[in-house]
This record gives sequence, C-alpha cells and structure tokens, in this order.
Amino acid sequence: MTKLWGGRFQKSAEAWVDEFGASIGFDQQLVLEDLEGSVAHVTMLGATGILPAEDVEAILGGLAQLQEKAVAGELEFTVANEDIHLNLEKMLIDCIGPVGGKLHTGRSRNDQVATDMHIFLKKRVKEAIDCIETFQKTLLEKAEEHVETIAPGYTHLQRAQPISFAHHLMAYFWMLERDKQRFTESIKRIDILPLGAGAMAGTTFPIDRLKSAELLGFSEVYANSMDAVSDRDFIVEFLSNSSLLMAHLSRFAEEIILWSTDEFKFIELDDAFSTGSSIMPQKKNPDMAELIRGKTGRVYGNLMGLLTVLKGTPLTYNKDMQEDKEGMFDTVHTILGSLKIFEGMVRTMTVNTERLHKAVHSDFSNATELADYLATKGMPFREAHEVTGKLVFTCIQKGIYLLDLPIEDMKKESELIEADIYDVLAPEAAVRRRHSLGGTGFDQVNIQIAKAKACLS
Ligand code: ARG
Repeated sequence: MTKLWGGRFQKSAEAWVDEFGASIGFDQQLVLEDLEGSVAHVTMLGATGILPAEDVEAILGGLAQLQEKAVAGELEFTVANEDIHLNLEKMLIDCIGPVGGKLHTGRSRNDQVATDMHIFLKKRVKEAIDCIETFQKTLLEKAEEHVETIAPGYTHLQRAQPISFAHHLMAYFWMLERDKQRFTESIKRIDILPLGAGAMAGTTFPIDRLKSAELLGFSEVYANSMDAVSDRDFIVEFLSNSSLLMAHLSRFAEEIILWSTDEFKFIELDDAFSTGSSIMPQKKNPDMAELIRGKTGRVYGNLMGLLTVLKGTPLTYNKDMQEDKEGMFDTVHTILGSLKIFEGMVRTMTVNTERLHKAVHSDFSNATELADYLATKGMPFREAHEVTGKLVFTCIQKGIYLLDLPIEDMKKESELIEADIYDVLAPEAAVRRRHSLGGTGFDQVNIQIAKAKACLS
C-alpha cells in the first residue's frame, strides 16, 4: 500500500518493519482528540482564507462522519497507515475524495500529535481532580463519624500516642488535597496549544494560531515553534503528580491491609471489595488495596521511562517521542481506577471501634501523658521522661499497664504524682487534651474538618 508520505520512496518497508514503527495500536485512543484538532485547524484555514469555503465545508462534513463512526466504534485502523493521524487522513480522503488532502495544509504531524496529547491530558487531569475530590468527600464523611473514636497512633509501627481515628483518616485528606492542587496547577502548562508550529519552524501560510486556540478552548499558544513540537514536560509533570498521588494511595493501602489482618482487626473491608482464596475457604483478602499498592510501581516506571526517553533527544521532534504515549495512557487508566476503587473501599469499610478502644487501653501509649504531667508540675521534661520510663519498666515486669499501677508504686519514683494521675492517663483524656493547633484533640479535629470542607467545591 502506498504511504501518504510515499513520494520520494522507491520501495516500501516490509510489513514487520511497519509493525515496529506503527503507533496505531495505542494512539487510536486519541481518535476523538485528533478529529477535534482537525476540525479546529480546517475551520481556521477557512477563516483565514487559506482554503475556500467549499473545501472547508467538504472537509468538515467528512470529519463529522468520521466522528460519528469513531463514537460508534466503527472505524477500522490499519498498521499500514502507521498512526492515528495518517489513518484518519486516509479515511477522510477515501470518504470525500482528494479535497481531503487539503486538511494537512500548514500543519505537520509533529504539531498535530502534540496538540492531541494536550487536548487529551487536559480532559483527563480534570477527571482525575474530580475523582480525588469524590474520594476526599468520602474520607471526610468517615472522619466525621469517628471524631471521638480513639485509636492507637504509631511511629516506627510501634504504639506511640492515642489519637482520634478521624485524625488518622484526615491525614490522607490533606495529602489528597495537595495532589489535587498539583494537578490543578499543572493545567496551566497543559493549556498551551502547539498547533500551528508546523514541523518545527512555523509555516509560510498566513495561519491564525490564536483562532485555533480559541476554537479548541486553549488559553495560550506556544511562543516558540521548536519548543511547541518537542515539549513533553507537561506529560512528565502529569506522571510525576500521578506518582506522588500513587505513593499516597499506596501508603494508605498498606494501612488498610494491616488493619484488615487478624492481628490488627481495626477495620473490615466490605465483601464487594475483597476476594477469596481458591484453596483456603476462610480467606478474605484485601486484593484491591494490594493491587493499588502494586500498581504504584508501574506509574513510577512510566515516569522514569519518559524522563529517560527525553534525556538525549536533540531538538525538535524525534520518533523517540512516540514512546510518550503508552505510559501516559496507562497512568491515566491506573490513577482513575485506583481512586475510584479506593473511594468505594473506604466508603463501605466497617471500623471496629471496640477493637480500637481495647487496643488503646492495653498499651503504653499514654506514657507521654505521665511525663507531661510531671513536667507541668515543674520537673524538667528530661527527668520526667526518665521517671516515666522507669515506671513503664516496672509495669512491664509486673505484666500490667500504667493505669493498673498502684499510686504507692508511682510515688516511689516521684512524690509529685497524685491520685489525679489516673484521670490524666485515660486515653480519651489524652486525646481530648491535645488542643494544640492541628493536634488530635477532638476540638482540633473538628476545626480541621471544617477547614477541609471549605477545600471542597
Ligand atoms: N506517531 C507519531 C508519534 O506518536 C506522530 C508524529 C510523527 N511525526 C513524524 N515526523 N514522524 O510521535
């Protein structure tokens, strides 16, 4: 089959060579964006008088037919036509005749493909922002239910201090808030149109790039045609923002997995978000959380992949850049899926408040309370730490907790300790008293929740 660019060639490549170079297998995902870009381009060619009205009308008619077929899934792409751009151009010519060949006037596949990617990513990043926000709302609702649910807080995965379970959930809300901000902020760098840069040097046709931008709803056009066709920073940035989002989801997934174990039993996932084992009938596995944790790897890989593709490429377009697509599509798919699954998983999970309550009453996570108590009574904190440590050790030897230690034993370490210490050591009290801004005190968690609500549109 003769290529659309076949004029200077004396022989064609073999099918397997074509196969290697073709991107149609994956860039067909850009079909609607490519048609959208072509509609704007030809409309601009008409508006500037570069093409006569009747040609523009014929081309727009053909593009509309292709759009209809694309939506209905009726387009048949071929490897022989290499990529989405040439496939569609060929289909247009087949559909309306040689006039279809005028569509590519003043345009190159280099500004065309970059345009498609900008249109595509702008839509998908907005979708990601919506998914993040839906998840944030669910987290907020869960948090509101559990402001006064006391849970163990950890450092080094060792019991540290008692906290409000809502406080723990809200920590993820804020990570997601930053993710949302990063994606939102990145839109201004996606919202720049490369169309009109041509192959790289611009064009001799009197095109109107601002008109194309207006038609496609872009705020700006690239100031430099060479930068326009070689820039993939906006994709790197998307992959980087996605990597950080996945890091957050993966950390949360890890906690969901831990909390679902018999050892923790802090939550139970809904059956609808769990799976069974083919051999062990008792099993209920947190597969979805594990998958999200696992999929984080491929998103990081996609980021590293593209950075590496770009690092040695001279200006401007190089075929290497065709390698920007699969990682981007895969990442879009992965982050949208992960966000939706995580939202459902958290919305439907049961929080085992009794177990959390019990956990926090059978540990030493109230030890800081005793040290603070002594410090409030004038003992230097370092000394208070030492005294408390000794009392903890005494308890460990006796196989009891601080709340079970008789006052006489406490007084052996410090006369400053009075009977009111038992109220101070109660985990609820320990949480309630943490009034410092952003702390886990119930009043602070409520303030935090109010602040979080204001972040949601
Ligand atoms: N399929 C190509 C890509 O994805 C489109 C641009 C091709 N341009 C070229 N000059 N060969 O990068």
